[in-house]
Amino acid sequence: MTALISITEPRAGEEGVLAGIWHEAWHEAHAEIVSPGLVRARKFDAFVGRITDNLGNTLVGRIDGAPVGLVSTKPEQLHQLFVAQAGRGKGIARDLILAAEERLAEQGAREAFLHCAVGNDRAAAFYRKMGWQDDGQIFELIHAGGGTYQVLCTIFRKQLVGLN
Ligand SMILES: CC(C)(COP(=O)(O)OP(=O)(O)OC[C@H]1O[C@@H](n2cnc3c(N)ncnc32)[C@H](O)[C@@H]1OP(=O)(O)O)[C@@H](O)C(=O)NCCC(=O)NCCS
Repeated sequence: MTALISITEPRAGEEGVLAGIWHEAWHEAHAEIVSPGLVRARKFDAFVGRITDNLGNTLVGRIDGAPVGLVSTKPEQLHQLFVAQAGRGKGIARDLILAAEERLAEQGAREAFLHCAVGNDRAAAFYRKMGWQDDGQIFELIHAGGGTYQVLCTIFRKQLVGLN
């Protein structure tokens, strides 16, 4: 039977499973490219807190109803996009980013940006494939576990005009 892919709002009680997807995918993508201190500071509990604080700005990608990915937005920003290994290469990331772009456009954004850590080549390839364009680099300051860390990121931008 063909797997059913869907994008929905988070459901009650899903904070833990979403934090687990985000935690695992974050470490997989960043462990080799950010400072060891930041890797140590990114503990599971911190992801639970962040997802709980941000549920209203989050969309969930599902296979047959089960969560396999998430996207979250801030004003004019695609803030987080994470898909579990089981969901990669299946179009879920595509559906998630298109839903996030539509949400940002509905909120009035004409253009959106995102930051992608330099060295996260699969994510960068995905964003380019989805029409996002490189617009230089920035050191993003990340506060985690009581420390502050610099992460060199590529800035990507996309025009959203015409989506709403
Ligand atoms: C980034 C992410 C959401 C993309 O979703 P995905 O399902 O993997 O995306 P796709 O498979 O559609 O596209 C990835 C592209 O990168 C290519 N790719 C795969 N591995 C690669 C690698 N090691 N280096 C460069 N490109 C790579 C793929 O070939 C594919 O392009 P194609 O469709 O033209 O072949 C997902 O990989 C993910 O969650 N990664 C871990 C977390 C993360 O990095 N999040 C983003 C933080 S900014």
